[in-house]
Amino acid sequence: MLGEAVSPVGRTRTAPAPDMLPRRLKLAVASCQHWEFGHYAAHRHIAQAAPDLVAFLGDYIYEWGPYQLQHPARAIRTSESFTLDQYRARYAQYKTDRDLQAAHHAAPWIVTWDDHEVANDYAGDIDERLSSDFAARRAAAYQAFYEHMPLRLPPLRAGLKSMRMYQRYDWGRLARFHVLDDRQYRSPLACPKPGRGGSNVVLARACAELRDPRRTMLGEEQEAWLVQGLSTSRARWNILAQQTPLAQSSGVPVRSAEDGRFWTDGWDGYPLARRRLLDTLVNSGAGNPLVLAGDVHTFYASELRRDFTRPVSKANPVLAPEFCGTSVTSSSRPQARTQENVERNPHMLYGRSDRRGYMLLEITPETSQVHFMALDDVRDARSGQARLASFALDNRSVRIARA
Ligand SMILES: [Fe+2]
Repeated sequence: MLGEAVSPVGRTRTAPAPDMLPRRLKLAVASCQHWEFGHYAAHRHIAQAAPDLVAFLGDYIYEWGPYQLQHPARAIRTSESFTLDQYRARYAQYKTDRDLQAAHHAAPWIVTWDDHEVANDYAGDIDERLSSDFAARRAAAYQAFYEHMPLRLPPLRAGLKSMRMYQRYDWGRLARFHVLDDRQYRSPLACPKPGRGGSNVVLARACAELRDPRRTMLGEEQEAWLVQGLSTSRARWNILAQQTPLAQSSGVPVRSAEDGRFWTDGWDGYPLARRRLLDTLVNSGAGNPLVLAGDVHTFYASELRRDFTRPVSKANPVLAPEFCGTSVTSSSRPQARTQENVERNPHMLYGRSDRRGYMLLEITPETSQVHFMALDDVRDARSGQARLASFALDNRSVRIARA
């Protein structure tokens, strides 16, 4: 309550003491909630599931302007966000949704951001239009994010040039969350279209930048922070809560390290930085790494390995499981193309892009379960849901089993 304004009562959770081993953690994972593409029924189901924590992996808002939808599910906004007032208005709009409010009332949230909290496909201080005033726009977007999202950050400073988002959360000794920021410090996207800064789809052999070891996704400081967080972790499960899939996703068959056709905005655009991250996971000795991702509006279950171009072997073992959640509302591609993708990329065990929803994880000291939860119809605010697929993890193995 502040003055005459009364907030509804929500529920939070206090994390277990550092030396406790809780018997169970229920975690909901969501991302990508483009307003015009549907209703937030996924959030109503998240609230009803009564999770201990919600992890939101980016694209909480979409900054862009009028969207050319023939049959939008909800009112279309008319202008793209550039200024602080415009970003604030967008959060205000999104947060009017009762189901989104319910998910915030149900549990504490762990959040990171992706590009659309600021601008499509931005990388560090460069946007896809190569705008000279992008720094001011980014500062406005960061401030609006800070003002509207549940964050554990120091007080806001005026004229925000940067904002440290990456952080750790411990759930007793059961789980340590390493929450990453893959936008603020990344190198410019590789091999963009002429005169542009955004993403592209390139043949690996035609883009030498992909093989430049100086290119980074997390930045040097965050990489060092992650090494430290993993190597000091006593947690049973080390959960990487981050934006976009690590699993390689080639648009053509891959027979050698020079092969492949990749979208440059994801980890496929930063393959050597990805390899450093995977090496860190292994060399740190951290228990049971578990990678979460969003961004691509598709459910994926994948087994990560150091060299995606070679089969699993003693020299090229599975290093960690990765689960990518679909979008809350944002649109995706037809399932037939996703199925082709799964067949072309053998480390992908499952892919489903024709359904919207979220992930539900049940983590216990010995085993964990991951459920892909799908809405019947994203255009229906009262939509029911169904469990599309479930996977089981055992703390003595990094392999994924169908449950
Ligand atoms: Fe998205």
